[in-house]
Amino acid sequence: MKIKNFMSTEIIKLDPELSLQQACRIFLEKKIDGAPVVKEGKIIGLLTKTHILRAFYNGVSPGEPVKNFMTREVKYLHPDTDIRDVDIMYTGRYPVLEGEKLVGFITKSDIMRGLNRLIDEMSGQLEAVINSAYNPIIAIDREGKIRIWNKAAEKLADMPAEKVMGKFINDVIPESELFNIVKTGKTEYGIKLKINNISVITNRAPILENGVITGAVAVLYDVSEIEKISQELEYVKSLNRELDAIFEASFDGLYITDGKGKTLRINKAIKRMTGLGEKELLHKTMNELVANGTLSRSATLIVLEKKKPITTTLTTITGKTLLVSAVPVFDEQGEIVRVVTNVRDISELNRLKQKIEQLEGLKKHYESQVNQLKEKFSGRLVFKSKVMEDIIYQAARIAEVDTTVLITGESGTGKEVIAEIIQKNSNRRDKPFIKINCAALPENLIESELFGYEAGAFTGAKREGKPGMFELADGGTLLLDEIGELPLHLQVKLLRALQQQEIFRVGGTKPVKVDVRIIAVTNRDLEKQVRIGEFRKDLYYRINVVPLNIPPLRERREDIPILIKHFLDMFNKRYNMNKKMSGEVVEVLTRYYWPGNIRQLENLLERLVITSNTELISLSDLPEYILSHEKAENEEEEAIVVNRVLPLKQAVEITEKKILEKAWQLYNSCQKTAEALEVDPATVSRKMRKYKIANKKNHK
Ligand SMILES: Nc1ncnc2c1ncn2[C@@H]1O[C@H](COP(=O)(O)OP(=O)(O)OP(=O)(O)O)[C@@H](O)[C@H]1O
Ligand SMILES: [Mg+2]
Repeated sequence: MKIKNFMSTEIIKLDPELSLQQACRIFLEKKIDGAPVVKEGKIIGLLTKTHILRAFYNGVSPGEPVKNFMTREVKYLHPDTDIRDVDIMYTGRYPVLEGEKLVGFITKSDIMRGLNRLIDEMSGQLEAVINSAYNPIIAIDREGKIRIWNKAAEKLADMPAEKVMGKFINDVIPESELFNIVKTGKTEYGIKLKINNISVITNRAPILENGVITGAVAVLYDVSEIEKISQELEYVKSLNRELDAIFEASFDGLYITDGKGKTLRINKAIKRMTGLGEKELLHKTMNELVANGTLSRSATLIVLEKKKPITTTLTTITGKTLLVSAVPVFDEQGEIVRVVTNVRDISELNRLKQKIEQLEGLKKHYESQVNQLKEKFSGRLVFKSKVMEDIIYQAARIAEVDTTVLITGESGTGKEVIAEIIQKNSNRRDKPFIKINCAALPENLIESELFGYEAGAFTGAKREGKPGMFELADGGTLLLDEIGELPLHLQVKLLRALQQQEIFRVGGTKPVKVDVRIIAVTNRDLEKQVRIGEFRKDLYYRINVVPLNIPPLRERREDIPILIKHFLDMFNKRYNMNKKMSGEVVEVLTRYYWPGNIRQLENLLERLVITSNTELISLSDLPEYILSHEKAENEEEEAIVVNRVLPLKQAVEITEKKILEKAWQLYNSCQKTAEALEVDPATVSRKMRKYKIANKKNHK
């Protein structure tokens, strides 16, 4: 912005010898107020209207030369002077000299024009600067009207500048507090707010002019990106933590090196398997570790050399066999950046494999043992059914484990025989085998029988005291028959004996250590007894470690014929006879429901062998209860004929109704019907009502 750009170059100059009158004419013609006086191209003075007026006022002749009235002190400007440096207050018109040569004039209005251009240019620059700012910038005047709203602000608020310029800030951005700044005049930094649902941080300051607030400006920072990034960072961090946890929790060892084989990370499992920790391994290269003997071999080094995954086995100093799989991780350029090694302790697997082999061997062993048992007990134990075979097999297995066994089953099913098998096949076979029947002893004697007593414990006690069954069975086996009959207070003592493996004699204060294996036997439903509070739950759980349930004979009828043969032989031998049994009888006996199970069968056969008159035991030799059962069974079978299948409940109801009707038809009396149906009369009338069977007698 130089003077030469704005000066006028039409130079009006006066000759020093020019008369005042001539000067007047030039001023009037050219409409100027003054002009330089130039002699031989050099400026020697300046003549203004004021000079002329003053001369005429003093009565000077109009012919006098101007040189006598001009001022000789002339202020002038250089053409290269910046327009901003001109003191416009001083005068209206400056000659512009280049060296001594007059090259032009510059007037106040020229300078104004220049300054105006300057302002335009600068405000253009300012706008460009503000618009090119990355941050939204908003400025208001002292009335709160928006004066600056840059491109970034347009984008953020999604509103073009032309729409908001001159509007009251609070109408455009209600959440803005910029107008407050105009009132308070305070600068604020880092204020968080949301504009157009975008999180921003704002710094705002008043605009001051000569100490007076003329507005306020706010610079905003869109932090939603940062917030998103920080959320992502949080997620990555939690992912990392998770990975860390997985890495550490892995049961397999994990070993990670960089592309040079330097150890970056190991997990706990590595420490467990190798006994080497971070101190020995971290930041060391595999080369070093092999060279100094810390490791015998390194899968990582092979991977680095071959550039592909490998799997190999290693043996640690402590004798563990490790399966090592190392895998390279490549970057985009195909360079190895990591080697990840998975280490699995297969000694454990080997051990398990061995164990399985052993178990398989054992299984074979037991199978042959069962067969042997069959042989061995052939004299005493007879069975054909699969259930019984399974039970014997189980018994043989349980025998070898020194655990408490609970044998359940109906009376006469062979529980005691099974208990004997267990004892005979256990490691305690040569040790004492004591049987005690809890039901057979009077209650007041059971305790002293089981646990013994000290001298003088009660009247009638022996002077020297007496050991109980527990002590007698020490080192061996104690069979507690009918354990369900044990009184509750003794159940507590028994439980204690089982748990502590020590007992107190009656009247004794010192515990006596005992080592006894218990086989508990019962024909009662212990679970039900527990429910109704007759048997202690804790004791039940304690003895029910290995339960064995012997099914009743009617559930394994295929055993009946061979049992018949077995007992027939046995009693023939015993009584020196040679009785036979007709096939018919065997069939009837096989159909019978045997409430007393094998014992009942055994007793019956003994009786038949002894009492039958002929060599061949026939149907007529059978006792009445079996025959009538057989008959009843047949009759009953025929009494109700089933034509088709329907839901059981419905079938039962229909049957019930029909039978009631039938009986009522026959007897027409509640009492008699009740007798015939073997129920009480109340039931009959209730059911009659239920089935709406007309009670004719009552109606009449
Ligand atoms: N499988 C079998 N083969 C041959 N005889 C058997 C068999 N099972 C049981 N017995 C015989 O049946 C009789 C009853 O068996 P055991 O005494 O073992 O039954 P239990 O279940 O203990 O009966 P209870 O509940 O009445 O004490 C015994 O004489 C026994 O020898
Ligand atoms: Mg028994």
